[in-house]
Amino acid sequence: SVETKISNKIFDNCLMNASGAKCMTFEDLSKLKNSESGTWITKSCTISSREGNPSPRYVDLKLGSINSMGLPNLGFQFYLDYVLDEHKLGNDHLFFSIAGLSLEENMEMLNKINSSDFQGWVELNLSCPNIQGKPQTGYDFERTEEVLDKIFSFYSKPLGVKLPPYFDIAHFEIVADILNQYPLQFVTCINSIGNALYIEDESVVIKPKNGFGGIGGAYIKPTALANVRMFYKLLRNDISIIGCGGVETGKDVFEHLLCGASMVQIGTQLMKEDISVFSRLLTELKTIMKAKNYKSLNDFKGKLKEL
Ligand code: DHB
Repeated sequence: SVETKISNKIFDNCLMNASGAKCMTFEDLSKLKNSESGTWITKSCTISSREGNPSPRYVDLKLGSINSMGLPNLGFQFYLDYVLDEHKLGNDHLFFSIAGLSLEENMEMLNKINSSDFQGWVELNLSCPNIQGKPQTGYDFERTEEVLDKIFSFYSKPLGVKLPPYFDIAHFEIVADILNQYPLQFVTCINSIGNALYIEDESVVIKPKNGFGGIGGAYIKPTALANVRMFYKLLRNDISIIGCGGVETGKDVFEHLLCGASMVQIGTQLMKEDISVFSRLLTELKTIMKAKNYKSLNDFKGKLKEL
């Protein structure tokens, strides 16, 4: 079995899309629903709909991808209506990503979710690197604590946070100490490695921000695994880890799970391969488990060998 759990809810399998990858429109979301993924998540939203940045704003690279989308989305109400309609159809396992441009905007969206019938999880995005003039919350530790303080002063539904990659042991410890103070149900790590520069033929490859953008894909897998592993060790046991970063094969999924992830998100590879990526990855994961005689994810989840 490749079943997994977040809190007390069971998912058929541990795969889902990463927010941002093919989850903005109703058509995108319907394709995810009809795929082999264990669940799915909506595009990070703001209260008002946004066009996002000028194109080209996402480019596939040999070893990953670069993007500076600028938070294009259909607006909070569209996604709230979508998840509530799904709930009426009996699906209470959805993830709803929100990325307000201010604390006030996040509070307004969370207030509305709190008083709605939504029964899934909010993934609060603390790590969007592509809004000009807005530092990402995840790199401002005091701000992160203030945001979580204000949110948990009233918010009572299942919530987790999407984090940027960290690269310093002291930073992991500071962030974990903050997160451990709050009733979070999960942490998703990692978002893209922000503000990188890719060059081809003496030129940048995306238009926004003079070519600077977030990197996903194979480039970031070791950083993603390090973040999953570190937060698995440092966070309370009741905070699940959702791994994200550099998953191209079933072996990559297996490695995220070994590091301690309970779910694994697919971003760049979903962009490159489209919706059939989920069935391929599941087949590859099951083949690995069979060869190792692992019957369930719990046989190896978090059990990375250390020397
Ligand atoms: C965008 C990119 C991100 O990495 C993110 O977390 C949210 C939004 C974007 O550019 O649209």
